Amino acid sequence: MRRITTLAGIAAVSLALAACGGNAGTNGGTETQSSEGANPWEGDASQVDVMTWWEAGSEKLGLEALEKVFQEQNPDTKFVNAAIAGGGGSQAKQKLSADLANKNAPDTFQAHAGAELTDYIDADQIVDISGLYDELDLKSAFPATLIDRLTVDGSIYSVPSNVHRANVVWANPNVLKEAGIDTEKPPADIDAWIADMEKIKAAGKTPITVGMAWTQVHLLETILIADLGADGYNGLFDGKTKWDSDEVKKALTHFEKIMSFTDKSLHSEDWEPAMNPVIEGKAAYNVMGDWAVAAYDSQQKKAGTDYIYFPVPGTDGIFDFLADSFTLPKDAKHPGGTKAWLQTISSKEGQIAFNKVKGSIPARSDLSDAEKGEFSEYQQNAMQSFGNDTIVSSIAHGAAVPVKVSNAISDAVTKFTETGASVDDFQAEIVKATQDLGK
Ligand code: BGC
Repeated sequence: MRRITTLAGIAAVSLALAACGGNAGTNGGTETQSSEGANPWEGDASQVDVMTWWEAGSEKLGLEALEKVFQEQNPDTKFVNAAIAGGGGSQAKQKLSADLANKNAPDTFQAHAGAELTDYIDADQIVDISGLYDELDLKSAFPATLIDRLTVDGSIYSVPSNVHRANVVWANPNVLKEAGIDTEKPPADIDAWIADMEKIKAAGKTPITVGMAWTQVHLLETILIADLGADGYNGLFDGKTKWDSDEVKKALTHFEKIMSFTDKSLHSEDWEPAMNPVIEGKAAYNVMGDWAVAAYDSQQKKAGTDYIYFPVPGTDGIFDFLADSFTLPKDAKHPGGTKAWLQTISSKEGQIAFNKVKGSIPARSDLSDAEKGEFSEYQQNAMQSFGNDTIVSSIAHGAAVPVKVSNAISDAVTKFTETGASVDDFQAEIVKATQDLGK
């Protein structure tokens, strides 16, 4: 069986385990051989077409920061922005799949480290770039827990630009105070959180917001983590935890209750408009990955006064992980440009400039204390959590399951939330959606 380490029983691996690596440096350097022997980088370096879904709002600012470093490091390679709108890659992945099938590949594309990459590997659409890891000494620059999630049958197919945390509640402290909720003491578990939502509802504000399908899956996965714990949640992907179990039913019932507190008119919105009511003081909570930091930053909002954050109740000590990672497609027209891009995104300079704006933390674990000090309070906190917490992989963001499975889960979730089907029917749909996992 192919080996891709997604979840099973992976405890936190301290960042300290990763030895210091050097700065990946700038474009150029020696030729890299892939493990198959051919040189995958041979070819045009005059431009690089970069496909992401960082097309709008605060995410676009992150991409612009990266582009700036790229052009400084590679003045002779033209950056071509091939971004496709839609948070979570909701539109991009479909377009990408068609482009790859039609041999119309971009020079590099954003994907999630972990199971999502297996789709492209199985279809023989992306190239083994393990040689670049040796050339740039990336195996010692990235923490072992990340290298593990990037490795498939001993090969690596992408370079991560960042690490995001998904299990974060973003809250408006003023809305909580108006409802008589202690902002210093987050609820201990989902039931206590639901009790707080009742208070907010009674005070006349929307307790929690959620947007389109993928944001609902995102919310659901964090409730699964809270109710099953890290081991139980990890077991969902290797068959040890049954999707038709009572524990899963408990989580789905919690999800149903929490969805009942949301504003339905936001259910077709992307993540940023769906969380705006929280930023504006019309709603209390939103569960979102820490790209939310970028949204607050872009509206000049300050942590502590304008917003507070805490792990989804019941997930303290667990880091729900995802990483954006870039590839070399087999049919890339400018593989030389791709190499330059991968060098920039893996370099300390690129990772610092990008992550400061994006809300995520650098995938590299060799930042000095002074370099870490340049990041926001939230990000320094996330760096510590990533080093100390138990790591689990995100469903909604491709770390835990292939695209096909996350699409099927997403269909089951929207069918449930839009038709008001019973929890039993919902669970039956989810069981169907996940039937190939662990096989
Ligand atoms: C990506 C993030 C992005 C978020 C919202 C996630 O899948 O990993 O980089 O900010 O979607 O679009």
